[in-house]
Amino acid sequence: MNLILFGPPGAGKGTQSSFLVESEKMFQLSTGDLLRAELKSGSDLSKQLKEIMDAGKLVSDDIINNLIEKKISDPSVKNNIIFDGFPRNLEQAKSLDDMLNKYNQKISAIINLKVDYSVLVKRISGRVSCSICKKPFNEFFDPPVEPNNCSNNKCDSRELIKRSDDNESTVTNRLKTYDDQTLPILDYYRKKGIVKDVDAMKAINEVTGEIKSIISNL
Ligand code: AP5
Repeated sequence: MNLILFGPPGAGKGTQSSFLVESEKMFQLSTGDLLRAELKSGSDLSKQLKEIMDAGKLVSDDIINNLIEKKISDPSVKNNIIFDGFPRNLEQAKSLDDMLNKYNQKISAIINLKVDYSVLVKRISGRVSCSICKKPFNEFFDPPVEPNNCSNNKCDSRELIKRSDDNESTVTNRLKTYDDQTLPILDYYRKKGIVKDVDAMKAINEVTGEIKSIISNL
């Protein structure tokens, strides 16, 4: 089973992915996390990426499709991928179909996390994530059990970090980019009959429950 977790910035894609990784032993493919890993390298590419990401725009399809194909072609994660933050425009959606065909795979469902935009700025401004496993927490809605400590025993780190694009002006641009370029691809998937809508205004564990019930019926 391959799933797409879909929704605007702050909808809960990363949060819900981390639960599915734990309970379903799926592989999370987050283009945002892959890009942030590249930012740390200090390469020439990383400087270009930082500018684009801080402006809340989309990184070029070539860079993204290349990152994605590396993972889709990996037999150890075949048919067990959660796509988190990809695809983000029609071009990427079509490339994903081509890549999945090439490696004899398909998307089983696209989980559409529906939220009112009014809550997103607060969710994003309260977000802190583990620097090692990337699990997101929230200072307002989902505080870590111990301050500055991720609950995952496998992480040595005691550091919870904030993202540089989680400021109000970048978030406004990210939402505009989502509305203009990402939201329209839902129609592409609705025509294929694989979109499952989820009320992501509910508490985190209730959203997880809804997603698990959807995937148990796939
Ligand atoms: P990316 O990292 O993908 O960010 P995003 O899509 O903007 O999504 P977020 O990570 O902000 O939100 P999320 O839905 O994962 O929310 P989370 O679970 O953390 O992309 C960053 C940038 O990289 C882009 O702007 C772009 O430049 C570039 N990029 C990435 N992919 C690309 C692509 N494919 N093509 C081109 N460019 C690309 O939750 C948020 C907070 O809310 C957390 O604190 C969480 O604890 C809390 N929360 C979650 N659910 C709930 C709930 N139900 N109730 C209360 N609080 C909740």
